[in-house]
Amino acid sequence: MARVETSSSRPYHLVIFGASGFTGQFVVEEVARTVSEGPKGNLKWAVAGRSKQKLEKVLEQAAGVLGKPELRSEVDIIVADVEEPDSLAAMCKQAVVVLNCVGPYRFYGEPMVKACVENGAHHIDISGEPQFLESMQLNYNSQAADKGVYIIGSCGFDSIPADMGVLYTRDQFKGTLTAVESFLTIGSGEDGGCIHDGTWQSAIYGFSDSQKLQSLRRKFNHKPLPTVGSKLRRRGTLFFSNEIQQYTVPFMGSDPSVVKRTQRFLVDEHQANPVQYGAYAGIGGISNVIKLMFAGMMFWLLVKFSFGRNLLIKHPEFFSFGLFSKAGPTRKQVKYALCPSLPKTGGVYTPGAAFAKTTLTDRLNKHGIHRISQPRTVKPVMCKWV
Ligand SMILES: NC(=O)c1ccc[n+]([C@@H]2O[C@H](COP(=O)([O-])OP(=O)(O)OC[C@H]3O[C@@H](n4cnc5c(N)ncnc54)[C@H](OP(=O)(O)O)[C@@H]3O)[C@@H](O)[C@H]2O)c1
Repeated sequence: MARVETSSSRPYHLVIFGASGFTGQFVVEEVARTVSEGPKGNLKWAVAGRSKQKLEKVLEQAAGVLGKPELRSEVDIIVADVEEPDSLAAMCKQAVVVLNCVGPYRFYGEPMVKACVENGAHHIDISGEPQFLESMQLNYNSQAADKGVYIIGSCGFDSIPADMGVLYTRDQFKGTLTAVESFLTIGSGEDGGCIHDGTWQSAIYGFSDSQKLQSLRRKFNHKPLPTVGSKLRRRGTLFFSNEIQQYTVPFMGSDPSVVKRTQRFLVDEHQANPVQYGAYAGIGGISNVIKLMFAGMMFWLLVKFSFGRNLLIKHPEFFSFGLFSKAGPTRKQVKYALCPSLPKTGGVYTPGAAFAKTTLTDRLNKHGIHRISQPRTVKPVMCKWV
């Protein structure tokens, strides 16, 4: 049974680690906004990171944005550094849940997962890095289960909409859902849009290490999932999608990996029919196709060498045609920005495996995250929007 209660020695329901990062700041503001939805309307929380001054600034900014000056004095600060295991252990001992926003996770994630498992804190992250997520499952699932600790990865845009969206579509679908394809389209206001540098760095290291992911997967020794209904045909590497009326490429994020792991969990634990899944991303018109081909070639070449990776990391705007930037999107550009029915034992879980039987989807809807689903006879198509 999940432990969700605080105690005198474990005073915080939630500690946001990496609160000083680009994403961390938004997480802090969202938690501050929805704090009254916590257990008994009183979520006890703290911010954590390696710089006290930066964390004070985060609370200062949140206080200003939300008009809640009390945040400056009421929210505690915990100083902890990934490089200092004792500081992580001390933080974990005080938290029921650590929400970890420190990435790239391939470099910084494992010490935090280890500290949570060893010190009995549940761990939620926003990693979009399949290699990290799958290696945590391989290495920590049984220890986490023994300790009754939940380690739940990819709880950000990667991959909540895809993972929970497939389950939502399955539950709404009259009949047996056999396959889902998702098409990501990026909309932006008059100021345009971009993605923060932290995600760019995670992508660079993910691509450069993609071969290791294959050998990691072999270690699970999984049997192929059974196919229910007709096999979902993979579309090409570039095609014009009638669904979203633009040129489209396979989505390179963690969604397919996460959805597949959830489906495997549901087959193994609940004897469910697995849903096949394909993920695609719209890139727009022909001029964007040309830009993407050019940027893609540069990326594939540079990502293989350390000097190339350094160049990519130094100049995200240049190499991504402005899609990624060190500053990240401005507030104006950002459009969208514990539960009783978790699995019975702790372990390393995907969002779909952990939250399938909770009210998470309803809560996301309540907070402005919506899906548009267009069920067809056998292949519902779900679009997710940013
Ligand atoms: N799933 C999704 O949809 C999604 C969405 C957004 C981001 N992400 C992922 O989330 C991660 C963070 O992204 P971001 O854009 O917020 O990055 P960021 O702005 O660079 O933030 C990184 C955070 O990590 C902290 N950090 C770095 N090294 C540390 C250490 N040794 N000890 C403690 N803290 C340390 C930084 O602290 P300092 O401030 O002290 O440097 C900062 O708070 C990335 O891996 C990104 O890919 C995922």
